[in-house]
Amino acid sequence: MSKLTLDRILHTQGFGTRKWCRELIATDQVSINGEIINDTNTPIETSGLEFTIDETLWVFREHIYVALNKPMNIECSRKPSHHPGVLSILPDQFTRRDVQPVGRLDHDTTGILLMSDDGAFIHTQSSPKHHVPKVYVATTYEAITPELIELLLKGVKLHDEPQTLAAERCRMIDEHHLEIVLEQGKYHQVKRMLASAGNHCTALTRSQVGNLNLDDLGLTPGAWCYLNDAQLALLKPPFTN
Ligand code: URA
Repeated sequence: MSKLTLDRILHTQGFGTRKWCRELIATDQVSINGEIINDTNTPIETSGLEFTIDETLWVFREHIYVALNKPMNIECSRKPSHHPGVLSILPDQFTRRDVQPVGRLDHDTTGILLMSDDGAFIHTQSSPKHHVPKVYVATTYEAITPELIELLLKGVKLHDEPQTLAAERCRMIDEHHLEIVLEQGKYHQVKRMLASAGNHCTALTRSQVGNLNLDDLGLTPGAWCYLNDAQLALLKPPFTN
């Protein structure tokens, strides 16, 4: 339970500076339960709070946890150079709250991407020490062979990586589609592992993180959703597949 004044609440939720938030309040743009609120002195309970700004309803969130179905030609970097950045798909408040992608997908990789402003969550999800599996489906140029799968499972050497890197799991879906599961997220890792193993990747999508599956979220490319407690639990061990 925690109480804050309304201007502070709006500020924590990414609606702008305290001054700007006070301006929103003074100009009758903020209401709670249908009632316009002009008071910036009385602390309000934030837990479970819903408020409306210009007819859009917002829920107070201490942290943001979001899953996005990343489309093609979107960059995950903070300073995108050739394509729009991933934050351009999300509400502006998220940028002001310093919401970041959990790990990165290449501009041409599609699929599930988590986004959050919770540093501890970002660290747990991305650090290999926490063994959160990331499931990718790679389309390959050359036909997939049992030898390729064996190599990826055994480990391949990548330029500038001191140790060989191995897939946690790997299976052929069909002649040109491979499911590969990694627990690290090195730069272009799937593409480089496939190249090092003598094939190459022509398209890549991430279908699952932990036990959270993109199909179950029902997100079309470019769509996103807040993660509820049950979905967040799927990002914690035990990981079943
Ligand atoms: N591996 C890659 O090669 N690219 C990605 O975007 C993710 C994993």
